[in-house]
Amino acid sequence: MEYKTVKVEIKDHVARVSLNRPEKKNAMSPQLHRDMTQALEDLRYVDDAKVLVITGAGDAFCAGMDLKEFFHELKGVQSEYDRIYRMATEWRGRTLRYYPKPTIAMVNGYCFGGAFSIVEGCDLAVSANEAQFGLSEINFRMFPGGSVSKSLANLLRPRDALLYAMTGRRFNGVKAADMGWVNMSVPLADLEEQTMALAREIAAKDPVALRACKDGYRFSLEMSWEASMSYTAAKEHEVMVLQKGAWLESGIGDFVKGLYKPGLESHTEKK
Ligand code: ACO
Repeated sequence: MEYKTVKVEIKDHVARVSLNRPEKKNAMSPQLHRDMTQALEDLRYVDDAKVLVITGAGDAFCAGMDLKEFFHELKGVQSEYDRIYRMATEWRGRTLRYYPKPTIAMVNGYCFGGAFSIVEGCDLAVSANEAQFGLSEINFRMFPGGSVSKSLANLLRPRDALLYAMTGRRFNGVKAADMGWVNMSVPLADLEEQTMALAREIAAKDPVALRACKDGYRFSLEMSWEASMSYTAAKEHEVMVLQKGAWLESGIGDFVKGLYKPGLESHTEKK
């Protein structure tokens, strides 16, 4: 899997997807949007890639949209601007949100503007304490456009969202974890090890059940209680069919036989 601006490495069932323009702090150029769209499409069908970890090459996570190659150079090129804009919002928004596999953002450094939508689009996020987050749009006389305002509304408390959007102040990984913007923050030196350990832990679970975890949560957010009950009941049958009854036969069955305690260990690891 070769891309110009994205690097994919698969190890221990975890796909490490690196935005790979370190000399430009991994700013999202039109090519990077094309590459991420294609990489996510390709990885969807790679069975060995059970969990995706999205990160940045070099010392930055992502400096947001490429201000030069996207906003400046596509100024007045309406159809191309529109094509890339749609692609940019699609992969960070809908594609990541409903991706059939768990995704983790590993924030290793600068994370500005449009990069907030990568963090929010992923299911989980782990940050380096030293990472710097900033909604810099206001500093160039703009607001968090595209998918970013919605990303803020989805995850941040209103006071935090508006404070950072209206000031452009930066906050670090420790603060990001306090705010619930990332799951946890660790020293940069431990970031890779801890994130990959989390990814491997999740990769060891049942993939059909993991997908249902995501769907059950994501779609229930958008549904009435009645619709959600109907949806999850149908999902349970889907899981049953796709797993050929495994959760009930062996997952529950082995507990009933006294072979393991699911409160304390995973059936997939037990096997
Ligand atoms: N778009 C285009 N190029 C960028 C971007 C960007 N978002 N961010 C960094 N670069 C380029 C720089 O222009 C520079 O290129 P050059 O070597 O050809 O001059 C290179 O990446 C390295 O960046 P430096 O500024 O030299 O690195 P430094 O560590 O001093 O600063 C920082 C990094 C803070 C990220 C700074 O480059 C910056 O402020 N970038 C803009 C951040 C931003 O506002 N992003 C947009 C958010 S809004 C949105 O996404 C819609």
